[in-house]
Amino acid sequence: MGITRTLDVDEILARQDSGELKRHLRGRDLVGFGVGIIIGTGIFTLAGVEAKTHAGPAVTLSFVIGAVVAGLAALCYAELASSVPTAGSAYTYAFATLGEVFAWIIGWDLLLEFALGAAVVSRGWSGYLANLLGLPAQWFGEEATVNVGAVLIIAILTVVAVLGIRESAWATNVLVLVKVAVCVLILVVGVFYVKSANLTPFVPPAQPSSGDSGVLHQPVVQAGLGLSQSVYGLAGVVSAAAIVFFAYTGFEALANLGEETRNPRKDLRVGILGALGICALLYIGVSIVLTGMVPFTDIDTGAPLAAAFDTVGQHWVSALISLGAVTGLTSVMMVELVTIGRIGFAMGRDGLLPKALGRAHPKWGTPHRMTIGGAVLIAALAAFVPITELSDMVSIGALSAMIIVAVAVPVLRKRRPDLDRPFTVPFSPVVPIIAAVACFYLMLNLDVLTWIRFAVWLALGLLIYFGYGRKHSRLATAKDTDPAPSS
Ligand code: ALA
Repeated sequence: MGITRTLDVDEILARQDSGELKRHLRGRDLVGFGVGIIIGTGIFTLAGVEAKTHAGPAVTLSFVIGAVVAGLAALCYAELASSVPTAGSAYTYAFATLGEVFAWIIGWDLLLEFALGAAVVSRGWSGYLANLLGLPAQWFGEEATVNVGAVLIIAILTVVAVLGIRESAWATNVLVLVKVAVCVLILVVGVFYVKSANLTPFVPPAQPSSGDSGVLHQPVVQAGLGLSQSVYGLAGVVSAAAIVFFAYTGFEALANLGEETRNPRKDLRVGILGALGICALLYIGVSIVLTGMVPFTDIDTGAPLAAAFDTVGQHWVSALISLGAVTGLTSVMMVELVTIGRIGFAMGRDGLLPKALGRAHPKWGTPHRMTIGGAVLIAALAAFVPITELSDMVSIGALSAMIIVAVAVPVLRKRRPDLDRPFTVPFSPVVPIIAAVACFYLMLNLDVLTWIRFAVWLALGLLIYFGYGRKHSRLATAKDTDPAPSS
């Protein structure tokens, strides 16, 4: 049926020099982009929510688990990104190894991750802004019928993303500096207010869940084993890890910038591993400070960090945190928009999405059609849909993509042992297999409803693939003229 036909790696490598996208980025720009997309709602909001509802002070342990799983996946991304630098990242790796239908699924997954991520974050941004400037909640808050703030910020950032990758990198670097400075401020000031009493017991004993949220809101692994719903304890720590994994998502976006990086063979792995390492350290520090400052049962779930500093009378720090959140969320959305453009560009270039999406703007050198199209969709979602619950969808999308990337590492090594690999995952295939299993285990700790929504998204994607992509794929239409593809 041709659905497992693969792209030739040499062809992928050859076309990265087409010069359509412009090579402006250096290693430090990539670290900036990485930190820019990674630090966001995950630490500013979810850390507090999960400490209160699932893990207690051991939410720090949840962040450590998340860092280990993300780190394993990042090693796999780094190997593929430095040996096959391309705008499509995981999507293209799957195309070169597992075949077209897997590539489509992964691309479809990543579009979900980044589009929903941007929509969730734009609503969060709007709320923080309203908080900071006293703007009316009926236009900027979660209860708004049409969330004007969210639409506005998406529109502004789309213009920047379309104008050029250099402008995006510059804007992102400035935003990132402010965000990291705020995290450091939280650590430096907050550490003086940490009370050891708040951190003991570190893992609160398991107890029955109070709300009657039903099986749909129970982690799949517990529902599958027929366990009764409970919170805290070690099970609570792991389910919190699956949810706060959201905080680490985004580093994969860097792998999409292979065609715009000056020296992708070195800079991509520096960017991916460097950005993730910096964020993991900040998250672990900030979560210790947060749970050390406030008894976990008293944590404010709206603005946990700002509220913690208000509690100890440090209102100026609280105000700076809100400012940092607004800034920090801006760069998350910026990089998400940039990434959606690149993934759509790669999918259009291969004919799985309309080909016009796979052409860059002649002057700006950016995939403008996909960026604008994606932004319209995100703005529509962000305007009308209260999407806080859907942040779990971002985690499940990212984790499933990571599984395919991990599998692609040993497959590509076997298929193309000759390929020049500037960076290799140690102990392959053991480490990639551990990475895939760890990602799957975290997925199992997300709730039943998230799995159902994810299944619906995948089914919709497969309908589009079989209705459009399979026929229009470049591998299907260019068979006569293009000898490269193998099947
Ligand atoms: N990792 C990003 C965040 O935490 C998506 O907001």
